[in-house]
Amino acid sequence: MKILGIETSCDETAAAVLNIEDGKFTILSNIVSSQIELHREYGGVYPMLAKREHEKNLPMVVKEALKKAKLSTTKPDIDAIAVTIGPGLSPCLWTGLNKATELAFKWGIPLIPTDHMEGHLLVSLLNVDTKNIFPAIGLTVSGGHTQLVLIKAIGDYSLIGETRDDAAGECFDKTARILGLPYPGGPEISKKADESSNIKVSLPRPMLYTKDYDFSFSGLKTAVLYQAKKHTITLPYVRAMAKEIQQAIIDVLLKKTKRAALEYQAKSIIIGGGVIANKELRAQFQKTFKNIPLFIPPVELCGDNAVMIGVAGYYRFKKGAIAKNMKELKALPNLRFASKV
Ligand code: KG4
Ligand code: ZN
Repeated sequence: MKILGIETSCDETAAAVLNIEDGKFTILSNIVSSQIELHREYGGVYPMLAKREHEKNLPMVVKEALKKAKLSTTKPDIDAIAVTIGPGLSPCLWTGLNKATELAFKWGIPLIPTDHMEGHLLVSLLNVDTKNIFPAIGLTVSGGHTQLVLIKAIGDYSLIGETRDDAAGECFDKTARILGLPYPGGPEISKKADESSNIKVSLPRPMLYTKDYDFSFSGLKTAVLYQAKKHTITLPYVRAMAKEIQQAIIDVLLKKTKRAALEYQAKSIIIGGGVIANKELRAQFQKTFKNIPLFIPPVELCGDNAVMIGVAGYYRFKKGAIAKNMKELKALPNLRFASKV
């Protein structure tokens, strides 16, 4: 079967076509139109501005995805449309949902409401033999979410921990801003962390030793703010801070994932989300989880894209989770794919 995925939950307008045969995925197209340049000017994402851009770009992005997949743009040979209905920015989600509903009606095919964070997780399993990998511990780390999930099977998720305040990606973005680095902060911090410095700084590891699986990153941001206020922001200082911020975030994510894997006797670790593009984080996870399968998406599928929506949508479709009444579908900005234990 062929699935068209549509993603507009934040600042990327994306569409992708996947072909799935005997459970094997082939990416026929993967188009992502980023609004980063636009939002960089404001230091963050403005929902109404993002919505305007999605509305402008989505028709083109969908057309391009169909063309690249060598399909007709008027009546393509597609079996279903998967669209992100949450979590994300409400006006942005609505843009994708409205377009997806319009196309599903026009082409007379089912619509699959899909969860953005489940997409981030399941894209790691693209063409993986899933027979002996559950229970697994899943870690999703994006600009809006940081979640630890016990996965008993695809579709069977329990949330065992999440951030109590800022997400890890948000912490990268906000601390980068304090240091005078542009949006989005994650890649900038990562670059600066790679450059050597003669300055030493030390930051806290929030909730590293708590017995639960929750995270808290706003304390780390505040610590950066206080220290930076007392210091002249020189290039060596920014490099040292960037390295320490990155390591503090990695330490907490790694330790809690490791403990969860032991407690729940996980057979594998599955991670995903924009922050998983971080080179140092990937290396340290790979080093720590040498004796257990670790599934990480390729860097180009870590940030927001529609391939992940197609993958998550496919598994939902297999379970029959298509929209019964498309007109009643709603965008759900606070959607959670895993229920709290
Ligand atoms: O998943 P994503 O693309 O969008 C959301 O769903 O939020 O994640 C975006 C987040 C941003 O906070 C961005 O700074 C962070 O991912 N990010 C990174 C890197 N690339 C993107 N954080 C650390 N290192 C990176 N290389
Ligand atoms: Zn995302």
